[in-house]
Amino acid sequence: MNKLLKKSKSYLTYCLYKNVGKGLKKAFILVLAINSFSCNIKESVPQLGENSIKEVIDALTLKEKAKMVASNAISEPDYQGLPLALGHYMFGIPKLGIPNVALNDGPAGLHIDSIRPDEPNKKYFATAWPASRLIASSWDMELAEKVAAAYGHELKEYGIGIVLGPGLNIHRNPLCGRNFEYYSEDPLVSGLIASAMVDGVQSNGVGTCLKHFVANNQETQRNVLETYISERALREIYLRTFEIPVRKSQPWTIMTALNYLNGPYVSENPELLTTILRDEWGFKGFVMTDWFGGIDPIKQLKAGNDLLTPGIPTQVEAIIKAVENKELPVEVLDKNIERILSVIEKTAIFKGYQFSDDPDLKANAQFCRTAATEGMILLKNNQVLPFNKDIKKIALFGNEGYRQFAGGLGSGQVNRAYENPISQGLENAGYTLDANLKDAYLSYIANYDKANPKGNHIKELFEPTPPAPIMQVKASQIEKMSSEYDIAVLVLGRISGENLDRAQQNFEITGAEKQIIKDVSKAFHSKGKKVVVVLNIAGVIETASWRDDVDAIFLAWMPGQEGGNAIADVLTGKVNPSGKLTTTFPMKYSDVPSAKNFPGNFYPEKSTRDFMGYKYIPGDVTYEEGIYVGYRYYNSFNVKPAYEFGYGLSYTDFKYSNLELSAKQFTDEMTVKVTITNTGKTAGKEAVQIYLSAPTKSMDKPTEELKAFAKTGLLEPGASQTLTFKLNARDLSSFSTEQSAWFAEAGKYTVKAGASSRDFRLIKSFELANDMVVEKVHKALVPTKDINDLKSRR
Ligand code: BGC
Repeated sequence: MNKLLKKSKSYLTYCLYKNVGKGLKKAFILVLAINSFSCNIKESVPQLGENSIKEVIDALTLKEKAKMVASNAISEPDYQGLPLALGHYMFGIPKLGIPNVALNDGPAGLHIDSIRPDEPNKKYFATAWPASRLIASSWDMELAEKVAAAYGHELKEYGIGIVLGPGLNIHRNPLCGRNFEYYSEDPLVSGLIASAMVDGVQSNGVGTCLKHFVANNQETQRNVLETYISERALREIYLRTFEIPVRKSQPWTIMTALNYLNGPYVSENPELLTTILRDEWGFKGFVMTDWFGGIDPIKQLKAGNDLLTPGIPTQVEAIIKAVENKELPVEVLDKNIERILSVIEKTAIFKGYQFSDDPDLKANAQFCRTAATEGMILLKNNQVLPFNKDIKKIALFGNEGYRQFAGGLGSGQVNRAYENPISQGLENAGYTLDANLKDAYLSYIANYDKANPKGNHIKELFEPTPPAPIMQVKASQIEKMSSEYDIAVLVLGRISGENLDRAQQNFEITGAEKQIIKDVSKAFHSKGKKVVVVLNIAGVIETASWRDDVDAIFLAWMPGQEGGNAIADVLTGKVNPSGKLTTTFPMKYSDVPSAKNFPGNFYPEKSTRDFMGYKYIPGDVTYEEGIYVGYRYYNSFNVKPAYEFGYGLSYTDFKYSNLELSAKQFTDEMTVKVTITNTGKTAGKEAVQIYLSAPTKSMDKPTEELKAFAKTGLLEPGASQTLTFKLNARDLSSFSTEQSAWFAEAGKYTVKAGASSRDFRLIKSFELANDMVVEKVHKALVPTKDINDLKSRR
């Protein structure tokens, strides 16, 4: 048992298990707790769902109240029957009909152990969906919602109450170790895709949890990092990504980030959790901390952070004491619990849904394959893709051709039932690979893994063992293969995860990678054959120094459990690629606007805390680039990227025509229409982007900002579709720090219908007659130090 739990994903589960001791019983106790237990005592005590929430709260003792917000079921001896393998459980009070609701990671699939302690002979798996950044690269909200609906159904069938996702922090810097779990450098793309995910999951009666609110844009020392961001950059970029799904989709819960922001810890800040989140945006659910977040439980509860995770005994004691000595009004605690209970009441599991523990993983795997093809991106194509019919034998190079990174590391990791590397995808599609080369790669990887065994769970969480560096292949062998094989496919891989940002070397191409790119290109090109590079990467890498050596570059991100088949579907032309970048690929790392201050300054001599032997080293970071994140910077400062935001090729071409605006003057809404026609020979879809350039008389602004986007349906050659977009007053406005308001300047606004952030196909303007204060907000989150935000040179 001990071994099983050590292997378990959840360090929390393991830590708690160590405290709990004793054996575990059957999972059915959860159902029992909800259904039968309550029936017996119903008469004498109020029941959640039957009595009012107030009556239920009034029936709780102070200790029970404290435990409801700062403990969890797993650490309670009474609750040993819960299926630990499922992760985290909220503290329930069965006699009042309050169940132990399961909270589980994560954004790209359910994070469960395959083996449950009480069922050693059975295996449980979950669908590993394509990573979040791939879903966003589809630019397709309908697709995102469908994926989320299928995912939500799987969660429901496993009895989950709330899933700990989606993650929607901004891709501020390409080295953030968790960017694969997030969507974009742009808050609109990120916010709208997150919104679709929330709608899809919650349609099943399973709650979502937007995380990590807010400004958790790096992993380095996230628990003790002082983050400083101007009010404007916060409102326009970092808060905006959360504001959109909160207002549009009402996620049931939100997880606060671990960092400090402009002074206090975010989980202890009432301006963030009450003034902005609830008073301004109208959030109705409950807020939980990230695991072990913040320091002061009383400040957290008062701020509106309702649940402390994982919940520890010292917090429970502190809460009881604080209520007793009137430092924490009991009404505040009751409000925290009221919010938690209102969410619990909405869950399918509370409503008595009898979950099967047996979701349709086969159907989900099929859908996973389709979804993955929608977000993969063709970056370069020199008349090589899709493979023509003469291609039968493929020389496949690169470790990740044979062992795929389906998803990233950390809490977002998913235990999938099987591997589907690119080699298998290509073989399934009928191509012949070199058996000796395949054996060589597989034994190289196996030997490396044997020589570099993974550490225990905690070690892997904080210091993951790096995967094998790319295997060297002799130039003479490549030369020989170039005569026998019709084409070369070379796969480059990068993995990353929680707690650890990528080092700059991880962004760069290694010497060994450069060598194999050169050797393969030289050999195959000398025979008039082509070279395709497939990128199976968690984060953005450098492409400018080697892209001219190869004929095609295909970005597969982390494609989920059907990755190999999905990649083959696009390379062979079964599916026409339609994904576009939601994050810029810069020419070089130093071009990144946050490169100068990422991850920040650290002070080892000030270290006073640790977590299981890993030191917390206090640090600070100031987002000096202000609002100039991603394309906002590259466009405004004329820095040419390798591949820009919004970019992606297709096997066909699209014409943009008939850009129409509903009026010449803006009043309260503007309708924008544009017609897209497939002018090529292959059916395809196009992600269309609407940018706006606003007047800059009184405020510094990016040259253009994305204001709307949509994807066409599958257009047959010659077919057209007219897309309609709406711009409202808020879309015209920028955040004025002086006025604490969203403010739109009078003047000329230019609408640009683009195929990317640098490829504007049609342009039209309208006027705003008078300055307009669109929305007045509170003065909040003012930095405790001066920040000299970057200004555009215009
Ligand atoms: C992560 C969260 C995750 C939580 C629970 C934390 O370390 O930051 O994203 O949901 O663990 O596993």
